[in-house]
Amino acid sequence: MAFLQALRNFFVPAAARRITVVEPAAQTEYCVAPLTPGHLNEVLYLNFRCFEDGENYNKHTFSYLLSQPNALCFQIATAENEMAGFLCVLVGDNRIAHITTIGVAPEHRRRGLAERMLAELDRSLIERGITSIVLEVRVGNTAAQSLYRTCGFLITQQISQYYNDGEDGYLMVKALADEMEPNDISRLYEPA
Ligand SMILES: CC(C)(COP(=O)(O)OP(=O)(O)OC[C@H]1O[C@@H](n2cnc3c(N)ncnc32)[C@H](O)[C@@H]1OP(=O)(O)O)[C@@H](O)C(=O)NCCC(=O)NCCS
Repeated sequence: MAFLQALRNFFVPAAARRITVVEPAAQTEYCVAPLTPGHLNEVLYLNFRCFEDGENYNKHTFSYLLSQPNALCFQIATAENEMAGFLCVLVGDNRIAHITTIGVAPEHRRRGLAERMLAELDRSLIERGITSIVLEVRVGNTAAQSLYRTCGFLITQQISQYYNDGEDGYLMVKALADEMEPNDISRLYEPA
């Protein structure tokens, strides 16, 4: 098992897990595009750069997400075709979309890229008749909570010790259809 884990993480140098000084990237155009299995190594590397706290997904998990028919995955890329952000969602049998991960490279942050990916997600889900989105976020991750609030999500519950290190999570929900109430959505959804 240890060998397999080492093999999975082969393409991710340990140094990539620590962010020191962040030099903003040069201004460029960005474009939202599908994230496919061909992007596996690139998204894995970016994910390690985005999540420094060890809660990041490994190669196996991304490989699973990128190959699931009920998953929707996007990237946002620069004009030079460099991946600047990613977003993955799983749609459950209850037709609730669950954001499993979202990240933007530190040097591309605060340029509205996460907001653009979430807007593209809304459009794609509405086209598929999906009426609600849920996600979990660490109580200490105020940056992400602020993003989600900006994009129309509301906190409906605090989930005790949701994360491996014992930190609580918030369940945040967003209704894409007028008839859905945030509290109804959170009742329909069972956090994993
Ligand atoms: C959270 C994250 C995805 C935001 O990406 P981003 O592209 O920088 O976000 P945006 O530029 O689209 O931000 C849109 C709005 O969200 C809010 N926001 C985003 N980052 C914020 C921050 N660090 N502090 C406060 N508000 C923030 C702001 O309202 C912002 O609008 P503004 O810049 O006009 O004020 C990014 O910081 C990240 O990758 N973090 C590490 C991974 C992570 O925590 N993912 C979420 C796990 S639940």
